[in-house]
Parts: sequence; C-alpha cells; structure tokens
Amino acid sequence: TNIAVFASGTGSNFDAIIDAIENGILDARVRLLVCDRIGAPVIEKAQNHEIDTVVYRPKSFENKAAYETAVLEDCKQRDVDFIVLAGYMRLIGPTLLKPYERRIVNIHPSLLPAFPGKDAIGQALAQKVKVTGVTVHYVDDGMDTGPIIAQEAIKIEKNATAEDVKQSIQAVEHRLYPEVIQSLFIKEESL
Ligand code: GRF
Repeated sequence: TNIAVFASGTGSNFDAIIDAIENGILDARVRLLVCDRIGAPVIEKAQNHEIDTVVYRPKSFENKAAYETAVLEDCKQRDVDFIVLAGYMRLIGPTLLKPYERRIVNIHPSLLPAFPGKDAIGQALAQKVKVTGVTVHYVDDGMDTGPIIAQEAIKIEKNATAEDVKQSIQAVEHRLYPEVIQSLFIKEESL
C-alpha cells in the first residue's frame, strides 16, 4: 500500500512508521511526506530516508480548497491510496476527504471523545484524570471526531508531569499506530 504521511511537527510517529516498515511490521511504502510548516523537524527525518517531501505554507493559497487541491495532486502523482496523519495540526476538508473516504486516519493523545483538539495531555492533567491514552480514528471533517478504530489506556501516576505522560503516550503511539494501520490493510484485502 502506498501511503502519504501528513505531519506538522517533530515526526516521532513518522519515524515509528518508517521503522515498522523496515522491521516488517507494516507492509507499506511511504511515498510522500506532506508538511504544512516550514522548518518542522519531521522534514529532515523524511530527507534522511530519501522520502519525497512537499512543504507548503497553506496561508499563501487563496483558500483551503486550493491548498488541498495541490496536496491531492501530489498524492495522485505518487499513487497514494492511504493517508496517515501524524501530528498534522490542521482539519482536512472535502477536497481530500471525498477522494480518500475512509482512507485517512489520525492518532490522538487521549481517549476520545475526551480531550479533543490541542494539548490533550495538558487537558487531561488539568482535569486530574487518572487514566488517559491513545486513540486511532478515521478522519472526518470535525476536530478528532471520526469513527474510532483502536484505543489504548495508560495510567497517570500521582505527581506525573506533562513530560512523564507524554513519554508514556508516545511509547504507546509508536507501537500502536503501525499495528493498527497494518490491521486496516489486512481487513481491506479480505473484503
Ligand atoms: C502525537 O502525540 C499525536 O498523537 C498527535 O500529535 C503528536 C505528534 O507527535 N496528533 P510527533 O510529531 O509524531 O512526534
């Protein structure tokens, strides 16, 4: 399966996906990184693996549809059939959702529907919850609202800092995301 990863930031999940492919856990090829933030660390990670990268400044487009049309063209050129969001800080609009219906997934650092949006870990700590976790879901036009595919919980220990929780969450994310993506591919094959 040809995938595109969309990311805006650090790219630790991007790296985890590449590692999983190299280790035979995920049967996919990353054909493209789409990044919407100039200078994001994930760009260098893609270059280290010689993965095609497009970096956009969405603001320099006339509107969201024009930006997404450019991205769609990049994906089509490389026969991308599945899109993986990994820290992509932007809502997906109809220009991409229609052609990739049920073929775009996202990972979010909370047990959705709790704590959608930005800083899910900070939100969880502010609410003093004792359990949070990771959700992988299909993407729709809302903010972290699409149908849930998989979830895994982690405990928040007493006195845990945001950094502690982030470490536990990311350890789960890096294992869970490639596994779940692979399970979707297998499901699709058997249809
Ligand atoms: C992850 O925690 C993911 O759940 C959220 O954004 C973060 C991205 O981290 N959507 P990274 O860029 O993959 O390191």
